[in-house]
Amino acid sequence: VNDAFQATLLAGATRNQQALRRLLPDNSAAGALSGLLEAAHYSLDTGGKRIRPLLVSLSSRAVRGADALPATDHLTCAIELIHTYSLIHDDLPAMDDDDLRRGRPSLHKAYDEATAILVGDGLQARAFELLAEAPGISDARKIAMIRTLAGAAGLHGMVGGQFIDITATGTNMSLEQLQAMHALKTGALIRASLALGGIAAGASAQQLHDLDEYGTHIGLAFQVVDDILDVEGDTQTLGKTQGKDSEANKPTYVKLLGLDGAKAEATRLLGEALRALEGFGESADPLRDLAAYIVARNH
Ligand code: IPE
Ligand code: IPE
Ligand code: MG
Ligand code: MG
Ligand code: MG
Repeated sequence: VNDAFQATLLAGATRNQQALRRLLPDNSAAGALSGLLEAAHYSLDTGGKRIRPLLVSLSSRAVRGADALPATDHLTCAIELIHTYSLIHDDLPAMDDDDLRRGRPSLHKAYDEATAILVGDGLQARAFELLAEAPGISDARKIAMIRTLAGAAGLHGMVGGQFIDITATGTNMSLEQLQAMHALKTGALIRASLALGGIAAGASAQQLHDLDEYGTHIGLAFQVVDDILDVEGDTQTLGKTQGKDSEANKPTYVKLLGLDGAKAEATRLLGEALRALEGFGESADPLRDLAAYIVARNH
């Protein structure tokens, strides 16, 4: 991954972090709610690669070129709020029971379970409020975005994937079943990120289709690499506990295909993702770089 793209990653992450502080104010002076808001910011303020916010802005850039899109902060924050809520709940004792997240104790460890559940719920609701409030975007586009994100986050999206993950733990899955689970638990929000950027930028039906095709492949690749890193990564770099999947006997790509098989699958998916962008010119180069980064990353 080249230096210029590293700079893009860092700039995107910093911008998202600042925007979240602005759009989810931490008015801890708010008496009875101070513990809740402080806990929300505990999860939002640190670490996180902010890949989904970057997908939103790079998707709109692919459609509009350098022509800046108004109000992307509302969209990038909405997707990051949903993602962070999914991680907070994913770490709960009833789910993956993970003590470490983004290099710090998980929210339910730093605070308590009730706070972690409520912060997750609250971040999710705020995400939709942000889409509804996004300035400079027509009501029709806002409704399309809200509908897309709700579908991707809900029963037939991320939550559905998490349910399959939990209920399938300890069982043997076929490759097709594993793929279907990954497509929901991780792929759905990644596809939604691209759709938000595309819809807001006024993408054509063909462009939305191509972005979705790219998202489908890169979304799967993202979880394949996450499974690989659970085996090959180290806790310090990952900022979350290495080896948790095998310890919990989770169905993963590595379990089914082995490390080499999983890596080959990630490379294959990268190729498919790049192919999906063939209809775009240079304006999609950052999305191409991001795909390569997703497969090459070490955390
Ligand atoms: C981790 O997501 C959970 C998965 C969906 C695989 P990320 O790897 O994007 O986590 P952060 O946001 O960088 O912490
Ligand atoms: C989590 O998958 C996916 C979501 C949070 C929706 P994992 O359980 O593999 O994520 P990590 O490895 O804990 O980040
Ligand atoms: Mg999980
Ligand atoms: Mg987990
Ligand atoms: Mg994982």
